[in-house]
Parts: sequence; C-alpha cells; structure tokens
Amino acid sequence: MLALLVALSCSAGPTAKDLFVRHECHRCHEIEGVAPPTAQKQCAGCHLELAGSAGDAKKLEQGHATYGDAFDRFVRRTQTLYVDVPPLASLSRFRASWMRSFLQSPYDLRPHLAESMPRMALTPADVDVLVKGLAKDAPLPTPSPERLERGAALFEARACTTCHLFGNRRFPTQPAALFDFKRPAERLLARAPDLRHVRDRLNRDVVVKLVLAPRSVNPRAQMPALGLSRGDAELLADFLLAGDVGAPVETPIVAAVTPPKQVRYEDVEERVFRKVCWHCHSNADFADGEGGPGNTGGFGFPALGLSFATYDELMNGSIGPDGEYRSIFRKGPTGEPVLMEVLKKRVHENARDFVKPGLDSRARLLAPPDESQRGMPLGLPAVEPAELALVEAWIAAGKPRPSTPPGAMLTPMGK
Ligand code: HEC
Ligand code: HEC
Ligand code: HEC
Ligand code: HEC
Repeated sequence: MLALLVALSCSAGPTAKDLFVRHECHRCHEIEGVAPPTAQKQCAGCHLELAGSAGDAKKLEQGHATYGDAFDRFVRRTQTLYVDVPPLASLSRFRASWMRSFLQSPYDLRPHLAESMPRMALTPADVDVLVKGLAKDAPLPTPSPERLERGAALFEARACTTCHLFGNRRFPTQPAALFDFKRPAERLLARAPDLRHVRDRLNRDVVVKLVLAPRSVNPRAQMPALGLSRGDAELLADFLLAGDVGAPVETPIVAAVTPPKQVRYEDVEERVFRKVCWHCHSNADFADGEGGPGNTGGFGFPALGLSFATYDELMNGSIGPDGEYRSIFRKGPTGEPVLMEVLKKRVHENARDFVKPGLDSRARLLAPPDESQRGMPLGLPAVEPAELALVEAWIAAGKPRPSTPPGAMLTPMGK
C-alpha cells in the first residue's frame, strides 16, 4: 500500500504551478493562484511600486526622506520596465501548439512593450506540463476576398487600429504614435499585442468571443468591449485569422558606427554595465544575498556568479560547468569574446522579435534558436550600436581599469 502511494506521488510529477514557482515566472507575471515571491525578488512588483510613486505626494516625500534625490531617478527609471507584463490568467484560451513554440522560442508579441519574454531554462518535459489542457488547433477560416475586404474596412472603422498593429500592413487612419517605438508607450498601447499573431495564438471561436466581450474570455483583459454585433465580430475574426499582414521588408540589423578613439571603463560602466546588466548581475552582499538571476541564480537558471557591480567582479568572470570561474572574455563559438557574442546575439534576437512595419520577423521566427547562448540583456532591448562599439573599443584597448577610485557601492535601492 505504502509502495503504491509512493509510486503514485512520484509519477504525478510537477504541476504547472510547481513550474511557475520553480522557474520564478511570478517575478515578472501575476499568476492566477500563485502567491508573489518575496519583495526583493519581484522585478514587476518593485518597479510597479516605485513607478506608482509618481504623482503621489506622500510616497514621494517618504522616498526622498530615505533615498534623497536619487529617488526621483528610481521613479523615472522604473516607469516603463515590467509594469505592463501581461498577467498569466485564463491561459486555456491559447492554442497548445502556439504555447509550446512560444515557450521554447519566445518572440516579441507587444511591439510597444520594451521588455520581452526571455527564453527560460524549460525542459521539453516542463513544456509538456505547461501546455496541458490548452486549446487544440481548429482549422483556420478561408473567407472570400470580398469578406476579407469588408473585415479590413470594419477593422479600421471600429478604431482597432488606434491600439493594434497588424503586422506590416498600414491603415491610413493609424495614428503616428503607433509607429514610434522609441517613445514610452501609453499603458494600453504597451499591452496591446500585434494582431498578426492571433492566427497562431487563438482559435476562431475564442477570437469572436474576445472581440464581443474581452472579459468573458479573460477576466484580466484591459481591452474595452466595443459594442459590436455578432456578425461584425465574426467578420473581424475572419479578417484577423486570414487577412494579409503586409509585405515583409528587410532592413539592416546593425547600423554602422565609428568606434570611439578613447574609452574609459567609467563610460562603459555608466552606459552599459551599470545601466542595464547590473540589475540581473549585481553584488549579492545586499538585498539578503539576492544578486540577481545572472549572479546568484533565478528564473530557473543556476548561479552563474557573474557580477557587473565592479570592475574586479566582472573580471572574475562566471562559474563554468566544472564549478570553476572562467573569463567572460574567453573565445566563444564564433571566436569573439563571449561578452561580445551575447551582446550581438541579442541584436539578432531583437531583429527576430520586433514586428515593426518595415522589419519582418516571420522568416526569422522559423529559424531554430541557437541553444548554446542567450542574448544579453536577457529579454530586454539590445544594446544600441554606439554602446556596442564602446564595449568593443574598451576590449580592444586592453580593458583598462577604472581611472577613478570605485565610488560608493549602490544597490538599485541605494542602500
Ligand atoms: C523577466 C520577466 C519574465 C519572466 C521571468 C517570465 N516572463 Fe513570460 N513574459 C514576460 C513579458 C515581458 C511578456 C510579454 C511579452 C510580449 O508581449 O512581447 C511575457 C509573456 C508571456 C506569455 C504570453 C502571455 C500573453 O498574454 O500574451 C506567456 C504565456 C508567458 N510569458 C509565460 C511565462 C512562463 C510560463 C514563465 C516561467 C517559466 C515566464 N513567462 C517567465 C516576462 C517574463
Ligand atoms: C527592490 C526594488 C527592485 C527590484 C526587486 C528590482 N528592481 Fe529593477 N530597478 C529598481 C530601481 C530603483 C531602478 C532604477 C535604478 C537607478 O536608477 O539607479 C531599477 C532599474 C532597472 C533597470 C534599468 C532601467 C533603465 O532605465 O534602463 C532594469 C533593466 C531593471 N531594473 C531590471 C530588473 C529586473 C530584471 C529585476 C528582477 C530580477 C529587477 N529589476 C528587480 C528597483 C528594483
Ligand atoms: C483601447 C485600446 C484597444 C482597442 C481600441 C482595441 N483593442 Fe484589442 N486589445 C487591447 C489590449 C490591451 C489587448 C491585450 C489583452 C487585454 O489586456 O485586453 C487586446 C487584445 C486583443 C485581441 C487578443 C490578441 C491576442 O493575441 O491575444 C484581439 C483579437 C483584439 N484585441 C482585437 C481587437 C479588435 C478586432 C479591435 C477593434 C474592434 C480591438 N481589438 C480594439 C487593446 C485594444
Ligand atoms: C533580466 C536579467 C538579465 C539581464 C538584464 C542581463 N543578464 Fe546576463 N545573464 C542572465 C542569466 C539568467 C544568465 C544565464 C543564462 C544561461 O545560462 O543561458 C546570463 C548570462 C550572461 C553571460 C554568460 C556568461 C558566460 O560566461 O557564459 C554573460 C556574458 C552575460 N550574461 C552578460 C550580460 C550583459 C553584458 C548584460 C547587459 C548588457 C546582461 N548580461 C544583462 C540574466 C541577465
């Protein structure tokens, strides 16, 4: 009897909830039925809290009392990252086939959301658990050209184009703001997916319901109910599932820039390492030993030991499979220093990710991901060409040390 029970509990395996916690999906996502992690781990929670201080006189006063002028910067710099991550709710609306491919090889769904879903350390068995119970693929509709034309006209007339892109296709009434990807987006815009992906993500019955009454499909939906008739909703669904998403246009991935002649470590630190890398590869002496997922481990990744908090720490490198530290300037698969490889990898991932008009992602989406490396910064916009050239020039100059004594150690909260 006991043996049977043990056998049963072993064969049960992890549930989706176990995996959400093990891979720390809840550091970025609110998840139905899963309690948030501790405050120090909440990428989304802490940013939301700080960003929410803007315009709240009492919170601003308290913040200034504790952190001084730096608090204004904290509030400013947390405004756009991780404050609009979609909650993981009503996941059964998605097609299992889409979820499987997305989890294995995520790409950008929301063109105005700066952060993307990182490629996590999920095993095929984990993915099997996470797609269980999701919708099976229903056949896509094959509406007549005349019906598609009416769908497109309705899509425009009902102002869907004020929030949504539809691949590379442009509609005359679309506001210019929709094509300004550098500007911090309004929240609804940041949360609105590019509807070119609907045919991969959702079956027709779900799209019809969603367009009629978004909250009937997902109680957490932010999209307004637009008071459409059932006939109109079906017309729109056909258009979204079968309409032309516009012609692919290729643009160069990396713009050429002239490398700087002189470069100091302080510049590289300020413009790259401390600006973005440090938030996941930080010093573990603060925040109860939490050095970020790229240092003390997290998001399901083992501890890598890589910190960008100081020059000496970054020169220590990262912990390899044999448990020993190795340099991040060692040669990687392409023969370049690993640091440059991961930065450039993200540039290519972004090109696959971003579904801007003028930059088609479709062909690249089909390319299998190179499993050997993840682009850095993980799940965030690639470092700009001028900053890439700066890091490259610093390495070429022999990686000069800081010319000024190290300043006061700062954690994100300035403790
Ligand atoms: C570092 C933050 C982060 C972590 C950790 C993370 N995600 Fe995400 N995830 C995102 C962001 C940001 C998006 C939105 C991406 C977009 O729209 O382009 C997203 C999107 C998604 C979506 C699509 C949801 C929708 O409504 O479109 C799913 C499903 C998802 N994540 C599952 C997971 C799972 C499962 C895990 C854990 C194994 C996880 N995520 C961990 C940031 C994260
Ligand atoms: C305890 C609060 C807190 C937590 C937890 C937190 N952050 Fe932050 N984050 C901040 C603050 C404050 C800033 C602004 C720092 C500054 O200006 O020096 C910031 C800024 C950032 C930036 C730079 C934004 C920019 O302007 O370029 C990134 C990237 C970032 N955080 C990522 C993360 C990630 C990823 C996690 C989870 C692993 C995380 N943060 C967890 C408070 C937090
Ligand atoms: C005010 C902004 C806004 C307008 C206008 C709008 N939407 Fe949305 N839509 C959203 C947001 C935000 C989401 C993301 C889910 C959520 O939070 O509701 C969304 C999600 C969707 C989805 C699900 C996409 C997916 O991949 O999960 C469909 C389909 C959709 N909208 C269709 C439409 C259609 C058709 C119209 C016009 C009749 C329209 N939307 C008008 C904001 C908008
Ligand atoms: C959102 C969190 C996050 C951010 C931001 C981030 N990293 Fe990482 N980094 C990780 C994780 C997690 C790993 C381990 C990935 C793996 O094992 O595939 C990693 C791995 C690496 C590695 C591989 C180390 C090795 O020796 O193989 C390098 C190099 C690296 N990061 C550099 C950077 C740089 C440079 C930046 C800033 C431009 C950055 N990271 C920003 C989370 C992050």
